[in-house]
Amino acid sequence: MTNPADPMKILVTWYSETGNTRKVADAIFEALAGDKTMIPFSEVESLGVYDLTFIGFPVKRFGVPGPAREFITTHAAGKRIALFVTHAMPSDSEDPQQQALLEKELAKCRAACSKSELVALFHCRGELSEQLADELRSSNIPVLMEFAGIRSVTLGHPDQSELEAARAFARLTAPP
Ligand SMILES: Cc1cc2nc3c(=O)[nH]c(=O)nc-3n(C[C@H](O)[C@H](O)[C@H](O)COP(=O)(O)O)c2cc1C
Repeated sequence: MTNPADPMKILVTWYSETGNTRKVADAIFEALAGDKTMIPFSEVESLGVYDLTFIGFPVKRFGVPGPAREFITTHAAGKRIALFVTHAMPSDSEDPQQQALLEKELAKCRAACSKSELVALFHCRGELSEQLADELRSSNIPVLMEFAGIRSVTLGHPDQSELEAARAFARLTAPP
């Protein structure tokens, strides 16, 4: 039987191809107090024992990448979860088009969790890899070529202030 005095059991799990989401996962994990575990999606068998799971992934192709969708569908239905997401878009753009695009991406992330109890969402910018930028540039598709152009302003993200914001998000979502 669970003792109400027991600390909350928390899992931090992530999927990251170029390391940005992993950096945010590390920051969140570091800031959490109590009974905590951190493992990648690939090592999770069940969320059964956790009171709260932080789930992290990058935005891909303007939405939720396959491995994240599969993870959420398989494991997160009926569970209390918090999302952390990285993307190449600026989080604080004054350009309404960029704002709308980011909002659309985040709405897709929330929608993917419609069967879970989503308690919070953190997002920040993550460096767009050189390899992807090269692929986009050689696509000859104007909208994709334009997207490659934002690589230079994504360099160094997530930065120290974004990682500090991730720590604050963790403390607020799961107070010690
Ligand atoms: C194949 C691919 C597609 C991407 N598509 C988008 C996108 O549609 N919107 C966006 O904001 N960022 C996009 N990005 C940028 C990533 O979301 C961003 O670089 C993220 O921080 C990568 O996280 P990771 O290092 O944990 O893999 C894409 C990156 C890759 C490699």
